[in-house]
Amino acid sequence: MQIKNIAVLISGSGSNLQAVIDASLKNEINGKVSVVISHKKDAYGLERAKKHNIDAIYLNPKEYKNNEEYHGAIIEKLKEHNIDFVVLAGYLKILTKDFVKKYEGRIINIHPSLIPKYCGKGFYGIKVHEAVINGNEKETGATVHFVDEGTDTGKIIIQEKLSIDIGETKEHLQKRVLDIEHSILIKALKKVL
Ligand code: GRF
Repeated sequence: MQIKNIAVLISGSGSNLQAVIDASLKNEINGKVSVVISHKKDAYGLERAKKHNIDAIYLNPKEYKNNEEYHGAIIEKLKEHNIDFVVLAGYLKILTKDFVKKYEGRIINIHPSLIPKYCGKGFYGIKVHEAVINGNEKETGATVHFVDEGTDTGKIIIQEKLSIDIGETKEHLQKRVLDIEHSILIKALKKVL
């Protein structure tokens, strides 16, 4: 089976990106990361990509007229790299309808909660874990799902749970959920690639 070219879209640390790179290097998934694109200049994930000689691109949203043009520019980059599959790993922008259509069934997102809980607009980063703790939840987890035109609404591929400790801080919870993310992202890629 031909190795798939993966694009990872990020905005931050890129620890999920690292998990994908590592899995690819160990031949655990049928794909390799060919390009990493960030909408934030200082995203550490860009450095991670460079260390592995992966094309690392920062595209500044402010240089484009609107979200359509911005994502049009990303699509061009994906075409240049013959991308088969797109992974959103901490990407905070909303894809356009055109983007989703072009890569339908070939875009996945990782989200740090048990969707449908604590997802959608405004639920990102530490805010998710803060809301989970304020909601007195006993458990939380992470979800990998296909991306459709909504926010965190596409078909779920895999979910994994953990129990929240009494008095656990949002930062501690974030770290534990992140470990789950790294693991289920690879499990999901094994399934879908
Ligand atoms: C992860 O929690 C991911 O689920 C969320 O953003 C975070 C990105 O972390 N959407 P990293 O950049 O992969 O370290």
